[in-house]
Amino acid sequence: MKTERLSLSQVFFESSIKRSAEILNNDGIVAIPTETVYGLAASAYSKSAVEKIFIAKGRPQDNPLIVHISHLDMLNDITSDFSDIAKKCADAFWPGPFTMVLKRGEKIPKSVSAGLDTVAVRMPSDDIARQVIEASGLPLAAPSANISGAPSPTSATHVLNDLDGKIDAVIMGDDCGVGVESTVVSLCTNPPRLLRPGGVTVEQLKEVIPDLVIDPAVLAQPKSDEKVASPGMKYKHYAPKTETVLVSGDSEAYVGFVNTKSDCLAICFDDEYESIKTQKIAYGDKNNEETFAKNLFSVLRKADDYNVKTVYIHSPSKQGVGLAVYNRLIRAASFKEIVL
Ligand code: TXA
Ligand code: MG
Repeated sequence: MKTERLSLSQVFFESSIKRSAEILNNDGIVAIPTETVYGLAASAYSKSAVEKIFIAKGRPQDNPLIVHISHLDMLNDITSDFSDIAKKCADAFWPGPFTMVLKRGEKIPKSVSAGLDTVAVRMPSDDIARQVIEASGLPLAAPSANISGAPSPTSATHVLNDLDGKIDAVIMGDDCGVGVESTVVSLCTNPPRLLRPGGVTVEQLKEVIPDLVIDPAVLAQPKSDEKVASPGMKYKHYAPKTETVLVSGDSEAYVGFVNTKSDCLAICFDDEYESIKTQKIAYGDKNNEETFAKNLFSVLRKADDYNVKTVYIHSPSKQGVGLAVYNRLIRAASFKEIVL
């Protein structure tokens, strides 16, 4: 299959949005930018289109998808139960990097939710994502547009590196602003439960959902026989091919540690860069967790280019969006963490 590149330059903008809508209405699959990461979109009403997503990504069949909407009216066909707490969350966090798990309505095929009777829904804030939803007139099921297990894509180039020839089209948009995926909260449990930390922080969530609990899988490895509330959390994920280890500790300890190692790549904070003697990449300002989120996936994608034995990543603080970065990093490192 030839993957169409849909340009957003001024001349092509309108025809590209129109073309993406046409493909989606014909049960095709199109990678679209969002404010978090690029998504691989298909009509959420079409079983056959949704099936194509699972095949293109090599996604395990038991990992459900998020349905993307552009206005609240679309919810009528997606869920039968838009509770008061769901309304409050929509008011506070939509449009934006927030996903809520609700009871699944009958119009959404079971395969979207991997057989569960719930459905995850998000209203993105990204203008292009919203224009594609509007133009297609469809709610769009869209996981991150990467090969399953690889770091999520934050640029159109990342998408093409993984999926060129396997999908109908990619919208050649800008790099994503947030850089990590949306926060996922289940409102089908009592009390509500954080399944995946993301662009909306725990601190922000607690202002709207004071009794929110954090699922144990957010910070630790689920046991192999444990039933996981968010199936996506049980897989090794976001991982470079090179062995990756997460390292926690202050800057002095981290720099001292990597400087005793050879055949390695240090993924460090900006202000540690000059002191490190091995190969290195800086990935953010330690006083601003948002910078780590924005750079995380492109840095994980670059790590394999260095051809080293081990990658040692300095773990950021778990404050704010730092918790989402930490959650992705422990999975990228297959839960190997050294605490200095
Ligand atoms: O920011 C995002 O959320 C991006 C962009 C494209 O919107 N999408 C994304 O999708 O990250 P994906 O498929 O890579 O991650 C979806 C996560 C998985 O961890 C999945 O298990 C969880 O959401 N999920 C989806 N539906 C669920 C449900 N019904 N119950 C529990 N977890 C669910
Ligand atoms: Mg994903």
